[in-house]
Amino acid sequence: MPPHATHDPRRLDLLRRDFPGLDTRYRLADGRVTRRHYLDSAASTLALGCARAVADKLLRHYANTHSTLHFSARIVNHADAWAHEQVLKFVRADPDRYTAFFAGSGCTAPLNRLARVLATRRPERNVVLVSLMEHHANDLPHRKHAGKVAPIPLAGEGPTLGAVDPAALERLLDQHRGQVNYVAVAAASNVTGIVNPVHDIAALAHAYDAWVIVDASQQLAHAPLPISDTGAADRELDAVVFSGHKLYAPGSPGGAIVRRTLLEGCEPDEVGGGMVEDVWLSDYRVTARLPDREEAGTPNLLGAVQLGAALNALRRVGMERVHAAEQTLLRRLLAELTTVPGARIYGDPDPDHAPRLGVVSFNLAGLEHGLVAAVLNDYHNIAVRNGCFCAHPYVRALLKPELWALDLDPDAGDAMAALKPWQGMVRASLGLYTMDEDIEALLTGVRDLLARPDHYRALYTVVAGDFHHRTFHAPAEALFDPERALDRALARLNATGAAPG
Ligand SMILES: Cc1ncc(COP(=O)(O)O)c(C=O)c1O
Repeated sequence: MPPHATHDPRRLDLLRRDFPGLDTRYRLADGRVTRRHYLDSAASTLALGCARAVADKLLRHYANTHSTLHFSARIVNHADAWAHEQVLKFVRADPDRYTAFFAGSGCTAPLNRLARVLATRRPERNVVLVSLMEHHANDLPHRKHAGKVAPIPLAGEGPTLGAVDPAALERLLDQHRGQVNYVAVAAASNVTGIVNPVHDIAALAHAYDAWVIVDASQQLAHAPLPISDTGAADRELDAVVFSGHKLYAPGSPGGAIVRRTLLEGCEPDEVGGGMVEDVWLSDYRVTARLPDREEAGTPNLLGAVQLGAALNALRRVGMERVHAAEQTLLRRLLAELTTVPGARIYGDPDPDHAPRLGVVSFNLAGLEHGLVAAVLNDYHNIAVRNGCFCAHPYVRALLKPELWALDLDPDAGDAMAALKPWQGMVRASLGLYTMDEDIEALLTGVRDLLARPDHYRALYTVVAGDFHHRTFHAPAEALFDPERALDRALARLNATGAAPG
């Protein structure tokens, strides 16, 4: 039995502590030095130490994957193939029917590629259905490359919007019968964490001969996502994209798992080394091999291997177990935040009614999201994100009643500026390493802010829409300066005559 099949329960606890940066400390505005509470995993997760160690070990054998014969070349080619294999295994995709390719530094690059590929596959079908909750990365590429985009409505209304409404999707498929090329939908939202029934969506889309692209950027690190939930062919996802930097492997590429038939024979967007059979002065022939034909040039080998190792480590723990641990924390956060007077959570807040992953966006009554995020950072050492999270239409739909209540004249010249501080939210998002005390710190910070809003407001001034503390300054270069870090590494080298580390 392979080691990951045993799903040792202790592995999760070990893994949760294996992240450089869990003990990072900063001096706060009140002079205290405390541990950072990292609640910004939906943007980028921290690095899984053991996965990083695999990439570091590979450095001893580092070579280019386009070399093939020497020992190191053989090793790196094996490692690169292993990384691709880990991706397919993670979603249980059959390697005979699916391929995995890496591109760019997140899922934006594979999404642009897929939009172009699918548009050339069936140019006669020029409608793409995109859910209202999508990140711009799973919206704009389809607008730009694939034709007319129609939004798929969500269940519910305003602040309590839920998942994609299957009945509304079916109506759209019927309305555009024969025109819909594909449906593009997030497995889980980066704003609310709300989960879409992607396999039901696939079955519906396939009944209308439409394909399905799933943006799994917010799902893969947090919950299982098999390519088909039941094994039934009509419930199989046609393409799944993800960002390695949200999967505990910073510096790794974006990736896509794609049905081979969709890519086969399709002219690559990028051409160069490593993806041709031969080149003559008059012509060139692209290899038929996948994923090679989708990966022109020297690949991000170390990133891919780090990502492959992170996926493998997660599989050894078992994604059901990872999911269950996160749900315990999420439910506590939702339950407690719901009872705080003045806190408003966005998206249907009942996880039994609208399942969600570890992402909670909220606002505090009468306080701008920028002020809340600044105070949480400066006084509580809590790293959260604020704004519209690159999902402007969704955030505006969730905020609709509040923005309307501002009663601004949209034709007035300064309406946009007046709207800006209120058009957004604060987002707390969880990762494998999130502990009860991080949730506790957030709740303490929220209660503190609501208890003395005027005190905090007086401490800040607004510069170009951002909240700046009037007296406390913590410039980035004073916290970490790459040049000083290099100075120290070189000094160590001078002193010992040996390479650092
Ligand atoms: C759901 C979702 N899709 C797409 C993206 C874009 O990812 P990247 O910037 O890594 O390409 C993000 C990033 O936040 C996301 O959360």
